[in-house]
Amino acid sequence: MAKKIVLCLAVLAMVCGFSAISMAGEGPETTTIDTPKKAKSTVTFQHWAHQARTECAKCHHTQNADGTQGPYAAGKEAKCATCHDGSLANKKVATAKKAAHANCKGCHKAAKKGPTKCGDCHIK
Ligand code: HEC
Ligand code: HEC
Ligand code: HEC
Ligand code: HEC
Repeated sequence: MAKKIVLCLAVLAMVCGFSAISMAGEGPETTTIDTPKKAKSTVTFQHWAHQARTECAKCHHTQNADGTQGPYAAGKEAKCATCHDGSLANKKVATAKKAAHANCKGCHKAAKKGPTKCGDCHIK
């Protein structure tokens, strides 16, 4: 009896283990993007679900030495606000708010899928 239970658990662990591997994405599964001014509530972002929809380079990129946008580099993903801190030359995306709105809403509008209304992302 005890042996059977152990065997069952071992099989279960294997099944779960494999499905976890095949379903796993990279970076955080979901991430909360905090709004520093708390003007609006925190945005919860389904990171892995988005990885299944589009490639990393649609959202992540680097910065060249001259301050311009660099190409995507695996392993160099960082918080948007580390660079989009208000200092970038292109004022349309200088802050994290503007960069996020351009990236997130831009794709949702173009794809005609995904939230575009304030309250759908900034859930109270
Ligand atoms: C597709 C999702 C999405 C939609 C739709 C959206 N936002 Fe945002 N918003 C974000 C994300 C992500 C951030 C970045 C959070 C941060 O500042 O780090 C953000 C940031 C902000 C900030 C900055 C807050 C701060 O503390 O600096 C404000 C204000 C804001 N949004 C207002 C709005 C308003 C008003 C609308 C509707 C016109 C709207 N948002 C629609 C995702 C969205
Ligand atoms: C649709 C947009 C989008 C896609 C596609 C995407 N990410 Fe992300 N990723 C984000 C956002 C937004 C964050 C949170 C950034 C923040 O908190 O400022 C993030 C966070 C991360 C982080 C954590 C970074 C940190 O320092 O906190 C890693 C690692 C990461 N992503 C890797 C990846 C990889 C690898 C892929 C492709 C397999 C990918 N991402 C695809 C938008 C995306
Ligand atoms: C390593 C620094 C760095 C990080 C991290 C970063 N960016 Fe950028 N991003 C830049 C630079 C530099 C530019 C070009 C700005 C300019 O031309 O003045 C840019 C441009 C953009 C643009 C406008 C061009 C385009 O591709 O549409 C968007 C939108 C954008 N970033 C969104 C994001 C989002 C969303 C994140 C987080 C998931 C992020 N960025 C993380 C440095 C960064
Ligand atoms: C390159 C395209 C693309 C980008 C960039 C993108 N999204 Fe999406 N997102 C989608 C699509 C497509 C859907 C709708 C999927 C569906 O309904 O089948 C979606 C759906 C969502 C949803 C609904 C829940 C879910 O996951 O289905 C939320 C919330 C969301 N996106 C937030 C964001 C935020 C916040 C950002 C920016 C940090 C972002 N998205 C960037 C394509 C994108």
